[in-house]
Amino acid sequence: MGRLDGKVAIITGAARGQGEAEARLFASEGAQVVLGDVLDDMGGQVAASIGPSARYVHLDVSQEADWAAAVGVAAGMGSLQVLVNNAAILRPAAIEGTTLEDYMAVINVNQVGTFLGMKAVLEPMKMAGGGSIVNISSIDGQQSKNGLISYTASKFAIRGMTKTAAIEWGRFDIRVNSIHPGGVNTPMGNPRNDPRAEKEPYVYQAIPRVGEPIEIAYAALFLASDEASYVTGAELNVDGGWRAGTITPGLPGTDHVVDYGYDSD
Ligand SMILES: NC(=O)c1ccc[n+]([C@@H]2O[C@H](COP(=O)([O-])OP(=O)(O)OC[C@H]3O[C@@H](n4cnc5c(N)ncnc54)[C@H](O)[C@@H]3O)[C@@H](O)[C@H]2O)c1
Repeated sequence: MGRLDGKVAIITGAARGQGEAEARLFASEGAQVVLGDVLDDMGGQVAASIGPSARYVHLDVSQEADWAAAVGVAAGMGSLQVLVNNAAILRPAAIEGTTLEDYMAVINVNQVGTFLGMKAVLEPMKMAGGGSIVNISSIDGQQSKNGLISYTASKFAIRGMTKTAAIEWGRFDIRVNSIHPGGVNTPMGNPRNDPRAEKEPYVYQAIPRVGEPIEIAYAALFLASDEASYVTGAELNVDGGWRAGTITPGLPGTDHVVDYGYDSD
């Protein structure tokens, strides 16, 4: 028995990274998976390696017509009950160096793409008697970093849009939740595959390392499955504790021992 038996799932940005890990995991749990991306060769190879339960479609998430086509493919495979809005782009730049074109490019993929995806699956999920939408936001949808004005705007928007959809669609048994990954070891999170990027940015994080795509995929699996039947509008952090707060050297309870004289009297 798979945890997603009988369900068809659309996963966007599935040619690599977290989306690929989700597609492989969902298929191994019994789902029929539709992998959407703009990297057609890579996406087609991933789908082929998963086998007959997977299909690749060209899906630019910012294009409404592409969504209609992808939903059509999913409908031909069975009962569309899961959508993972995972596709995103990142264009780091200081605010003064961010052009309107770059800003809108990020908004169009990350934010508009998530909106269009949710809209596109509503009717098929109603017909299926319910479903689960998993929107991939980020810890940057809850706080921010320098250099991420457009990305942060889009990820805060995804977090908010998730709650609107959860409230509107609970009556159709459609659950909508957001996942907030911390740093993840993918082309986005570690573009040069640099071993330093797996440790150094995280030394003051509770779990002091980068996350792996499969660790996000397991969270998405839970939310996609019927095990999460009473979970909607929620934010699931998968971030090694980043959002819990950082380790403070000089206070007790850490191996980062520095004497700043913080003794109690
Ligand atoms: N990697 C991280 O550190 C990190 C941290 C927090 C959140 N996230 C989020 O996790 C999700 C997955 O990112 P990842 O780390 O796997 O990155 P990634 O860059 O490896 O994968 C993103 C995928 O989205 C695809 N994509 C880009 N534009 C698209 C479009 N218009 N239509 C369809 N697909 C498109 C890319 O081709 C790629 O396959 C994203 O939403 C990202 O914002 C990533």
